[in-house]
Amino acid sequence: MNSLVTFEMDGDLALIGLARPPVNALGQPLRAAILEAAERAAADPAVKAIVLHGSSGLFSAGADISEFGSEASFAAPDLPGLLLRLTRLDKPLVAAIGKLALGGGLELALACGYRIGEPGTRVGLPEINLGLLPGAGGTQRLPRLIGAQAALDMMLSGAPVNAQKALDIGILDRLAPSAESLLDEARAYARELVAGQAQARPAVPFPEPAKGLPEDFLARFRQDNEPRWKSRLAPRLLLSAVEAACLLPLEEGLAREVALFKEAEASRQSAALRHVFFAEREAGKVPGIDASTQLRTIAKVAVIGAGTMGGGIAMNFANAGIPVTLLERQGDALDRGLAQIRHNYGISVKRGKLSEAQLEQRMALLTGTLDYADLADVDLVIEAVFEKMEIKQAVFRELDRACKPGAILASNTSSLDVDQIAAVTSRPQDVIGLHFFSPANVMRLLEVVRGKATAPDVLATTLKMGRTIGKMPVVSGVCFGFIGNRMLEPYAREAHRLVLEGATPAQVDGVLTGLDLNMGVFSMLDLAGVDVNFLVRDANRAAIAHDESYCRLGDELYALGRFGQKTGRGFYAYEGRNRQDDYEVVALAERLAGELHVPRRPIGDQEIHDRCLFMLINEGIQLLDEGIALRAGDIDLVWLNGYGFPSHLGGPMHYAETLGLDKVLAGIRHYQKALGDYGQMWFTPAPLLERLVAAGKTRIEPF
Ligand code: 3HC
Ligand code: NAI
Repeated sequence: MNSLVTFEMDGDLALIGLARPPVNALGQPLRAAILEAAERAAADPAVKAIVLHGSSGLFSAGADISEFGSEASFAAPDLPGLLLRLTRLDKPLVAAIGKLALGGGLELALACGYRIGEPGTRVGLPEINLGLLPGAGGTQRLPRLIGAQAALDMMLSGAPVNAQKALDIGILDRLAPSAESLLDEARAYARELVAGQAQARPAVPFPEPAKGLPEDFLARFRQDNEPRWKSRLAPRLLLSAVEAACLLPLEEGLAREVALFKEAEASRQSAALRHVFFAEREAGKVPGIDASTQLRTIAKVAVIGAGTMGGGIAMNFANAGIPVTLLERQGDALDRGLAQIRHNYGISVKRGKLSEAQLEQRMALLTGTLDYADLADVDLVIEAVFEKMEIKQAVFRELDRACKPGAILASNTSSLDVDQIAAVTSRPQDVIGLHFFSPANVMRLLEVVRGKATAPDVLATTLKMGRTIGKMPVVSGVCFGFIGNRMLEPYAREAHRLVLEGATPAQVDGVLTGLDLNMGVFSMLDLAGVDVNFLVRDANRAAIAHDESYCRLGDELYALGRFGQKTGRGFYAYEGRNRQDDYEVVALAERLAGELHVPRRPIGDQEIHDRCLFMLINEGIQLLDEGIALRAGDIDLVWLNGYGFPSHLGGPMHYAETLGLDKVLAGIRHYQKALGDYGQMWFTPAPLLERLVAAGKTRIEPF
């Protein structure tokens, strides 16, 4: 028997165990092995029922994602065909679902007539996260099992449900009392079925999945959700598949599902989301650290500064059950910080996301202090005080004195040189940058800034810690702005300049949100604060290349006290959160353009797209060339998780590959010429981009 499955006889039961570590991904070799085992069991008259299980406990994480986009994806036996065959066996088939049944893994279980889980089991159809829809019967069989509405909720959210919920809604028929007893219980279940002469498949509870729902349920559902889906294709295709489940007989519905699945699989959006899936897993792999790197223990954490960032950072650890000591300069600042944290948790309680008891548990993990002596036993300190080198260095000198040997000393600086901070300690190997994004308890991105002396185990430990608190850690080298903010510079610069040249802020933002970015540059600046942006720019003029026109509009708005949403005026005028164009901004742009001799003209959307995006991409490629970013995928993760870039475009590097690197280079060269001195100054192609295009490469990689 093929080694990808185990086959055992147990009396009149055949036990088929999936054995393709780590997650039993249902690639062609495993599909073939399952089919072979199933045919053997079907042909053997001694077999009265079959138990299908994961031989290492875990059932299956679904189709093999690395096969998508290649012929292997539908190579025989394809998953829909295999599952159809299983549904036609005339012997009861019991799926023993240990740990996980996701995507095609759950579809495999749905093709079995009977399903048993254990308390730790989670089942779900997360295909939507890959720009796909369930393509092996999930969109047809799940609605028939649990009804169209519940099935849609599961498939559109992509979120798995736990064992109890799966039992309650009818995905599982039974629960074994423990993971250890699952296989025994599955065997007992199969024997009961044989003894009771059960049908190979029980009748489905919802033969007409939409019955009982309002007649216009699906049409309304589409209408209500379309705005949220923006330009995403997969939810629309998924809904069409569920419509088919409601209207067509099963076999026709299955054929329709395959066609819709193939459309999704071939789409750019799915390719981009698959890229993101693998990039997220790659990001944890860093040269110089591997499984043999001994991690330091992080059982107790301290945060210095209980302001906007410090409070949010502390919440991450409390949420993960890790005790945190918050250190401030003065009692009132500490009290304010702790009160703000309580207030933030209170909002979650009001929204029903947290119970009062959980709020108190989390607050109990937070201890305030004004005394560095209280940090003697912490394993990790994250400094989040004012963004001034002298202040940060003073804090690090104190930490060096107070903390135990081996404690990791991290700074949340967004623009200062981590090496200069490390240099004032006697242990630069233990110093690292941990750049959280605001709001720190919400945003998933964590730039892990490796100083020149940072020890490999410090890097490895902080990467692991980042994942423990639910972040997406991405390694960056030391430079001004690290990966994200450094790329933001040229992108925001172009946005400003385009308004001088004749675009309006709303036009620029409209082009960017038209790509499904969460926000355009100007809405983002108005939200974050025109003043905050100005002060960072002003403090770093030496580090940022600039000409006379450089972000002048932002500088002038700052001078006018138009700080954005908080003052009701910035690049836009606000009434509450409602944004309006403001003719004063246009007038200001006209005046500045006159003073700076910038000719004004109508600007087309394509130009806005190309100038903002190509400059963003160019800077990313330059960062890769400098070794600040390890991989193009890491850069994508920064922009997806920190800057609202849409994941179905895959991030700016993947997007550039989709557009064509040659086209991006040609665009940059075009504006280098077309924009005169300004173009000469700013539109210099990154040398790596030129080398890649000259070599005919289509992927962005160090070269
Ligand atoms: N296909 C291929 N490889 C997969 C995979 C899959 N479905 N699921 C996980 N892997 C790989 C990962 O790439 C990783 O490989 P690496 O070690 O070489 O980096 C390894 O398995 C372990 O994965 P994680 O690092 O993610 O391990 P975790 O324990 O953190 O998470 C998991 C495990 C929850 C299963 C997570 O990997 C996951 O969510 N996987 C994807 C599940 C999914 O989306 N399934 C649907 C696939 S599409 C489908 O089934 C289509 C069908 O309808 C036709
Ligand atoms: P903040 O002004 O809200 O908070 C700073 C806190 O540090 C204040 O409560 C202050 O009392 C305290 N503090 C100052 N000096 C101290 C000292 N010597 N010892 C103890 N506490 C001290 O500032 P914010 O926004 O939280 O920023 C903190 C750091 O995080 C800065 O380095 C900033 O660049 C960085 N950052 C800020 C982001 C943001 O969006 N606000 C995003 C990412 C990083």
